[in-house]
Amino acid sequence: MTQNSEKETDFLRNLKTTMSRRTFLRDGASLGATAFVMGSANFSTATTRTYNRNSFAFSAVPASTKDTISVPEDFNWHVVVRWGDPLWSNGPNFDQSTRGTSSSQALAFGDNNDGMELFIKGNRSILAVNNEATNLSVMYGNHESNLPENADDIRKGKAAVGISIIEISPQNGRWSIVKDSDYNRRITADLPMKMTGPARGHKLLRTNADPEGTNPIGTWSNCGSGRTPWGTYLACEENFNHYFSSSDPLYELTNAMKRYGIEIEDRGYDWGKYDERFDISKNPNEPNRFGYIVEVDPLDPLSTPKKRSALGRFKHENAAVVLSGKGHVVVYMGDDEHGEFLYRFISKERYHPSGDNSDLLEEGSLYVAKFHDDMRGEWMELEPQTTGMISQAEICIYTRQAASAVKATTMDRPEWIATNPNKVEAYCCLTNNKNRGKKPNAGGDETPVNGPNPRIDNKYGQIVRWTPTDKDHTNSGFAWDLFVLAGNPTAHSDLYAGSKNINQGNLFNSPDGLTVDNNGLMWIRTDGTYSNEGDFAGMGNNQMLVADTTTGEIKRFLVGPIECEITGLAWSADKKTLFLGIQHPGDKGGGHFPDGGKNVPRSSIIAIKRNDGRTIG
Ligand code: FEO
Ligand code: CA
Ligand code: CA
Repeated sequence: MTQNSEKETDFLRNLKTTMSRRTFLRDGASLGATAFVMGSANFSTATTRTYNRNSFAFSAVPASTKDTISVPEDFNWHVVVRWGDPLWSNGPNFDQSTRGTSSSQALAFGDNNDGMELFIKGNRSILAVNNEATNLSVMYGNHESNLPENADDIRKGKAAVGISIIEISPQNGRWSIVKDSDYNRRITADLPMKMTGPARGHKLLRTNADPEGTNPIGTWSNCGSGRTPWGTYLACEENFNHYFSSSDPLYELTNAMKRYGIEIEDRGYDWGKYDERFDISKNPNEPNRFGYIVEVDPLDPLSTPKKRSALGRFKHENAAVVLSGKGHVVVYMGDDEHGEFLYRFISKERYHPSGDNSDLLEEGSLYVAKFHDDMRGEWMELEPQTTGMISQAEICIYTRQAASAVKATTMDRPEWIATNPNKVEAYCCLTNNKNRGKKPNAGGDETPVNGPNPRIDNKYGQIVRWTPTDKDHTNSGFAWDLFVLAGNPTAHSDLYAGSKNINQGNLFNSPDGLTVDNNGLMWIRTDGTYSNEGDFAGMGNNQMLVADTTTGEIKRFLVGPIECEITGLAWSADKKTLFLGIQHPGDKGGGHFPDGGKNVPRSSIIAIKRNDGRTIG
């Protein structure tokens, strides 16, 4: 029995009556209410886009559990850069036995590459890449403890996260780092930054080291990415809480700390033991300075990154930036936590192609999504009047609490959001949610099954799509549907079988990274269970699939190596190379990608090309 069995019945009754136009029964499924799944192949409308079918004409890749990359016939791949590869010629090559020191790491590509964006300057290609985290057993595998053991280990860990900005170029068809490029840069957990927006200077951001509350130090847990029309990079701070701890075991955590997952113990990183900044019993406001979107100018290595508090504080996944018809900057953002929310920011000022747009993310309105079961939804503005909170600054710091106050819809862990460049619509990966229908979120909001989150104990995930009213991303209304419910039709015959566009050839779980290209093809990257057994039989390692947003068809394009997740995606200027992030391969000890043998597994970016050199996507 779940916490909301009665509501669930209501929901499914609604589903039955209000979705009849768009729903279908899976062939052979029982006729019980849970047999209703939403199709995708049957509700697309005509489109005006020029659609390049050739991009989808690849031979689908079978599931795999191999410790390598599988791509379709007629495609090839190579490694561009790995964790620990030096960006400057004074940096040593990665040392397999020590796995580097703080000084080698400071000169090298960071760990666990996630979101990334490619910027073009003349004929130069500059890749900005998030380095989300470190895996203790990989980073510190030189110690028997598999843990940091001294001050240099901590410095190394802090130098391995943040952002890497690297110039890359192709030599004889293979892309690699341009060592010593004047664009190369590492942004780490120790680089001074600027706080901007409503929260700047607020008392909750003030610390002993920064009594003004304006100059936070560093960024980490940078997950998905975004880019602005004016050429800046957005790095999104996600699991920042994992690095804080208390030297006083009896320290009383505030409710606000609990809402953001701050605990007495960290996740084994030990930063607080060596740097008081991370000890919440001494610096209780320090965590309030993280959980933001960080804007970086990738072409100015001396620029100071800016934390954009107007876009709210939560576990930011990525930032999908789109311009409205009137030129307002709209940013869609997910909070990747069980039962947390989906957000939208609209800039106060408008974008002017020839003007100074550098502070458009400084001021604007913040909204949270409410999905109704009748397939409509609305954006609710978070302001003192609607939330009962004292100021916009407080809303921008305690954004989760503000969203709870307006009773936003609890979601199944929103990961990446992508807008369709050819159509006024957006998609969000709701990766999975073991707590759905079972446990409230950290703020106590109940999580009954609801419109876009229709399954209790959701182990497979789904992708929700919404179309703004009047084709205007600033409109407060939208219509939604589910593009796909991932599932396993061999293991289940109910809602967990997935939607109609799931079949034996494209089984996957836990969609995470998401990009829609100019042809309307959606590139879905997964970060899920790779046991290949039971509920997950036939899915293999984590993978990348391509979906046709017009027909709903989904094909597997790539399978990653053992224990990895597939993360960031970018194209070369000529669209002939696709860059892809392979994060934490072999992090449980089962794999050695990319170098094989007994080599240390290393997060990497790979380049994928067609054998005939034509464009991809
Ligand atoms: Fe860093 Fe939600 O993935
Ligand atoms: Ca992710
Ligand atoms: Ca994930």
